[in-house]
Amino acid sequence: MRARIAATGSYVPERVLTNFDLEKMVDTSDEWIRERTGIRERRIAAEKEAASDLAYEAAKAAFKKTDIKPKDIELIIVATVSGDMPFPATACHLQHKLGLKKAAAFDINAACSGFLYGLSIANGFIRSGTYKRILLIGSELLSRITDWEDRSTCVLFGDGAGAAILEATNEDRGIISTHLRADGSMWELLHMPGGGSRHPASKDTVKKKMHCIKMKGNETFKIAVRTLEGLVRETLAENKLKISQLSLLIPHQANLRIIQATAERLDIPIEKVMVNIDKYGNTSAASIPIALDEAVRQGRVRDGDYVLLEAFGGGLTWASVLIKW
Ligand code: UT7
Repeated sequence: MRARIAATGSYVPERVLTNFDLEKMVDTSDEWIRERTGIRERRIAAEKEAASDLAYEAAKAAFKKTDIKPKDIELIIVATVSGDMPFPATACHLQHKLGLKKAAAFDINAACSGFLYGLSIANGFIRSGTYKRILLIGSELLSRITDWEDRSTCVLFGDGAGAAILEATNEDRGIISTHLRADGSMWELLHMPGGGSRHPASKDTVKKKMHCIKMKGNETFKIAVRTLEGLVRETLAENKLKISQLSLLIPHQANLRIIQATAERLDIPIEKVMVNIDKYGNTSAASIPIALDEAVRQGRVRDGDYVLLEAFGGGLTWASVLIKW
């Protein structure tokens, strides 16, 4: 029994925040942002929207593309670092919105690698025969945990959600292998210190902006490129595949320069790499499922193709998933 992605869907909020808008907010320029990150604009959620609302829209879009109905779903997993509230899980809010009573529901926090950690968990449940149909979502409102006065981070992030409906199959297709890694010794490179049991919310944590993302961008950048190259090579070697056999690489969209540098080191032509960071910025756990959905809609993923997903982010965590579509 294998797990295959039966359908994908995505949703991004209507409001567009361009680099030119950011020029009016902090000391930055469209040119700097484009050259250093590849980002032109990002989406910002409306005040009334939360992670489960974006997740719900992405899920609806996915259900439109398959005969599988919400009532068939046995487990809902949401990957997020910007959920509706610390608890209950955003997946429970989503379960309620979908009108489901029986599906199990939980969130996972693996930052930008969250969707791939989620695919690995879903794969395990399906292969073991525990569940046959799983809804997996990456949903983020990073705009809510961004310091809009910090030019080194606020130009990077955006909001959005992407969904995948997974089902059991006997066919020779689906998730082939998943590779999860973490190194907690480097947690400080990318984190949000406030709001947990270490620094519960107080006037002081708000004053010190501890409820916002802190990132040592340059160090993270260098580790990301090195690590992702190694991970892709390991994934392909374990599956006895050559780089030339990959039809599409779908990387986490953190920085166009990270994507290009990784592709160059691996000698993968950029035409075989999915890039949409220009439109959405870094949407953490939502970035890969949004990119995957766009790739599917653009006809860039065909039956039998080998597609490799890879991500790197806070934790530090990094992960890859090889799929035969
Ligand atoms: O999603 C999880 C993983 N995330 C990542 O992997 C992100 C990794 N990091 C990055 O994408 C990049 O490091 C950044 C885009 C965050 C920064 O690019 P960089 O090339 O590493 O720049 P830097 O941090 O070394 O800063 C270079 C200069 C500095 O000025 P000085 O010290 O050289 O005078 C910064 O103050 O750029 C300045 N700078 C800016 N200038 C204009 C930083 N942010 C901005 C800005 N506009 N928004």
